[in-house]
Amino acid sequence: MRHQVVIIGAGPSGLLLGALLHQAGIDTLILERQSRDYVLGRIRAGVLEQGTVGLLRQVGCAERLDREGLVHEGFALNFNGQHLRIDIKALTGGRTVTVYGQTEVTRDLMAHRAASGAPTIYEARDVALHDFDGPNPRVTWVQDGQPREAHCDIIAGCDGYHGVSRASVPAGAIETFERVYPFGWLGVLADVPPCAHELIYAGHERGFALCSMRSNTRSRYYVQCRSDDEVARWSDDMFWDELRQRLDPAAAEQVVTGPSIEKSIAPLRSFVAEPLRFGRLFLAGDAAHIVPPTGAKGLNLAAGDVHYLAEALIAFYQDASEAALDTYSARALDRIWKAERFSWSLTTLLHRFESSTPFERRMQDAEFALLQSSETAQRALAEGYVGLPY
Ligand code: APR
Ligand code: PHB
Repeated sequence: MRHQVVIIGAGPSGLLLGALLHQAGIDTLILERQSRDYVLGRIRAGVLEQGTVGLLRQVGCAERLDREGLVHEGFALNFNGQHLRIDIKALTGGRTVTVYGQTEVTRDLMAHRAASGAPTIYEARDVALHDFDGPNPRVTWVQDGQPREAHCDIIAGCDGYHGVSRASVPAGAIETFERVYPFGWLGVLADVPPCAHELIYAGHERGFALCSMRSNTRSRYYVQCRSDDEVARWSDDMFWDELRQRLDPAAAEQVVTGPSIEKSIAPLRSFVAEPLRFGRLFLAGDAAHIVPPTGAKGLNLAAGDVHYLAEALIAFYQDASEAALDTYSARALDRIWKAERFSWSLTTLLHRFESSTPFERRMQDAEFALLQSSETAQRALAEGYVGLPY
């Protein structure tokens, strides 16, 4: 079996890369460890930058997104009971974000790939990468109990933080940077109307809270919790009480409660691997970096990587030259580090750190006060929120 590019992972990164390459006439095989349903069962963030929407449109996979996505022109910050709206549209010369679940992006990309006829193998076990230090890499895996092998020109490691691709790189060839935050987010999905038309990010003595949505009838809420917390410890009532305590009273009053249809805890981490190219292996998306979810950069950052990687691979095949491949890592990392800074900064402003000193708390207060009083500070936040151009 031979393919031009073997993509490891059928998350948003792998599927979007597959779509961009297919459109350019490049033949790809996607290998995914899990089943389709398992991949679609993961609930993740739901805010798309214009650049991400643009890529989905470019590959012809935005019909439902354009129909059902909610365009947002701003979001709110609640800080110890004070309210501040960030008018992202006015502050960024007309840019907006679109609220549309990542699970739905994945579903649309899966259907799009299936319709294109390009191959995806789900439940590919024991995926292993070989010979990517030379021009003829190979990937092996086990399918229905049988050993399988594919030769290729390029391997794209789009297999997330726990994937095999990054782990296959010799330790001396890769450097990693990491911050693990000492708390998690407890998320609840419920079929209740959202408490506000726009997202609310709340910083409170009791901890961070976020009011988000999937549609006008489905809400997604989060509260900061302990790292070692357990979902089973949180009844729905406890969750709604905690959420309301952390919001300003006007917002709290608008919260409509109902039974949760999903409840989970996610850890918060900042992580970057450098570089992103190892011979003929390239890393993209969560395989290369993790951001804390504050600001919803995870999927958008993955889309940026994939955009740069697709450009490089298309140039590689068109020009029969590795020159474009050489630029991928630096281009992607430049954007990645800026998004890492943004997510870290918004996380640091809005969360309650057990270890923080009185000085550090005053710094949080001063940063919010600066946002309240300075349009320049608001603009910097808004520009980070809508995402850097590619
Ligand atoms: N072999 C094959 N597939 C694998 C392997 C493996 N050894 N390990 C992991 N995978 C698959 C996972 O099952 C998953 O479906 O790779 C996929 C990676 O998908 P994601 O984790 O969603 O990562 P990515 O596509 O880069 O998407 C980035 O998703 O995780 C969120 O916050 C993140 O929003 C961001 C976006
Ligand atoms: C979500 O809707 O799940 C969401 C929105 C914004 C974030 C994080 C998560 O910053």
